Amino acid sequence: MIEIKDVRKSFGLLEVIRGVSLTVRKGEVVSIIGSSGSGKSTLLMCINGLEMIQAGRITVDGTEVHARSTDLNHLDTLRLLSAEGMTMIVVTHEIAFAREVSHRVAFLQSGQIHEIGSPEQVIGNPQRPETAEFLRAVL
Ligand SMILES: Nc1ncnc2c1ncn2[C@@H]1O[C@H](COP(=O)(O)OP(=O)(O)O)[C@@H](O)[C@H]1O
Ligand SMILES: [Mg+2]
Repeated sequence: MIEIKDVRKSFGLLEVIRGVSLTVRKGEVVSIIGSSGSGKSTLLMCINGLEMIQAGRITVDGTEVHARSTDLNHLDTLRLLSAEGMTMIVVTHEIAFAREVSHRVAFLQSGQIHEIGSPEQVIGNPQRPETAEFLRAVL
């Protein structure tokens, strides 16, 4: 299980993750979608312990994730993820893929989860105008 609570991440004065909370159950697949610059990659780096966070908490199977400044390459990251089982957070621009494989989809905007729900809800029938606008642009 991956638990993300009130996480904030800044680069200098620029706060790019602004209070993200998300719990991913064991075996659950959550896709994160959103425009370029919304913070998807940064959030993933924080979850993988590759970037330090300024506030909040991230735990994987109850163990707190700490940023590692050196020596964690992509292969190690993939090993960590596969050791976690099938629990997955996926960042993708492939909306059809996200719809197919995800239990939940989170639409990220300006470092915040703007809308989250089942693929049918978020991709099929978005409630927020910003989500609908993003989907119109990429689909
Ligand atoms: N290492 C960094 N130093 C400074 N700013 C960064 C760095 N990485 C990302 N950013 C900024 O953080 C914001 C989010 O970027 P990013 O997480 O790459 O978004 P996405 O993956 O959704 O395109 C952008 O404004 C980007 O310019
Ligand atoms: Mg990115």
